[in-house]
Amino acid sequence: MFALPLLSALAASSLAAPHLKKRDSVSGFDISHYQPSVDFEAAYNDGGLRFVYIKATEGTTYEDPMFSSHYAKATSAGFIRGVYHFAHADSSATAQADFFVANGGGWSNDSVTLPGMLDLEAPCSESDDWEGWIKDFSDRYFDKTSRYPVLYSSPSWWEECTGDSSAFVDTNPLDMACWNNEACDPQGSWPFYTFWQNADTNDYGGDSDVFNGDLTQLKKLAIG
Ligand SMILES: *[C@@H]1O[C@H](CO)[C@@H](O)[C@H](O)[C@H]1NC(C)=O
Repeated sequence: MFALPLLSALAASSLAAPHLKKRDSVSGFDISHYQPSVDFEAAYNDGGLRFVYIKATEGTTYEDPMFSSHYAKATSAGFIRGVYHFAHADSSATAQADFFVANGGGWSNDSVTLPGMLDLEAPCSESDDWEGWIKDFSDRYFDKTSRYPVLYSSPSWWEECTGDSSAFVDTNPLDMACWNNEACDPQGSWPFYTFWQNADTNDYGGDSDVFNGDLTQLKKLAIG
């Protein structure tokens, strides 16, 4: 709803934002089957977006029906792109990592593929051990791809569901969900976020994200 004002406000306020390492930020977005007709060429050429995270899988059985089409179109439009998996605590983390990697979530060192992202927003209950679950998923993903996955969550989800764990700070990039003009304080003692999902809207569909650095640094993240 407020995608354009937010993005321009962000550009204007980047210098003052406390957690931006670099003044330059690269804009991107994230999408799923809820956005069946994304115009990637326009998003790149008119919107200036440079990266996209695309949903591939959820649990151990669900494959996003738009994944292949999104991925092919994003690639031909010139995007640096990554793929994400929606986590459910009620089935094995290693099985979900395997399913993700087998269905689009792998990584290749081709300079345009970002490490896979783990989407952490499912409701948590007392009996869940999310910290252990994430560790199992992350280690399995690393074994299969030689990269640690980006961890996506809001600060409030992370605090509630992992007890504000700092276990992943040295290994996993953070994608902080914080729909606000100003960046939140990163959760879990991460000293900075790598990505910030700053709005749940985007002119080209899905949600808006910024990368905490310039395009050269984004390309470095792609090659690990
Ligand atoms: C990817 O390739 C680049 C250039 O060949 C290399 O420097 C980098 O270490 C590779 N990344 C990984 C994670 O193997």
